[in-house]
Amino acid sequence: MVAAKEAAAGSASAHTTTERTTMSNSLAQTILRASGIGKQVTTGDTELTILSDVSFEVRAGEAVAIVGVSGSGKSTLLGLLAGLDTPSAGSVGIDGHDLSALDEDGRAALRGRMVGFVFQSFQLLPAMTALENVMLPLELAGAMEAAEPARAMLERVGLAERLHHYPKQLSGGEQQRVAIARAFVTRPKLLFADEPTGNLDATTGGQVIDLLFELNRESGTTLLLVTHDEAITGRCDRVLHLAAGRLRDNDT
Ligand SMILES: Nc1ncnc2c1ncn2[C@@H]1O[C@H](COP(=O)(O)OP(=O)(O)OP(=O)(O)O)[C@@H](O)[C@H]1O
Ligand SMILES: [Mg+2]
Repeated sequence: MVAAKEAAAGSASAHTTTERTTMSNSLAQTILRASGIGKQVTTGDTELTILSDVSFEVRAGEAVAIVGVSGSGKSTLLGLLAGLDTPSAGSVGIDGHDLSALDEDGRAALRGRMVGFVFQSFQLLPAMTALENVMLPLELAGAMEAAEPARAMLERVGLAERLHHYPKQLSGGEQQRVAIARAFVTRPKLLFADEPTGNLDATTGGQVIDLLFELNRESGTTLLLVTHDEAITGRCDRVLHLAAGRLRDNDT
């Protein structure tokens, strides 16, 4: 539930025309910087290293894929980059703001302004319909009109006939598309998506990929996509390879 609210709040950024113009003028700027990120967790008396010394930069407007076998640390890295979790070592910078210098509220505010996140497990709010789930980030951002843009975005992911269904009345692929619509609806500057086509057939997956790259093209949205889907990696500007929590040498 908390994560689901985070997901909705994380998408809450409605861009004005002025912001969009500024964005297109700054395409070469670094929008995301990972410096020496490490993540350790302790379970019982065992310390597990999930990520070690991960460093890279992403320029505004880039589309970057993160690939690696199951358990290599992809979801953990995405959560750290989006400020949903804190690293054990190193730092993350979003649009020049060092996340470690911000408290939880500060990070939430930055996410609200800039970030959309599609979770591997969707994280929809179960007591809200598809339409209400997609309206929520717009409402949190104080948008005057939430229902119409939310409806239009659900239509773009092929769910015009499912607006009033609750998550438990939707298939896995349909829930994934609601989560994608929720992350897109505010046109965030930075979109993180964890296996966005993982539960979709090739045709529906293709439509979602087209939507991702339309957003990248139309709004200058920077994409960070964890994926095994070659239809996605083939369209990204760069592919980062994670293996046992480390980036391949020539990726950094
Ligand atoms: N909170 C945690 N406590 C203990 N271990 C964790 C925790 N979170 C992740 N891990 C472990 O860290 C490793 C990386 O997990 P992560 O979810 O980032 O992998 P992934 O690359 O996204 O895998 P998949 O492709 O299966 O989604 C896994 O071995 C996982 O079991
Ligand atoms: Mg994962």
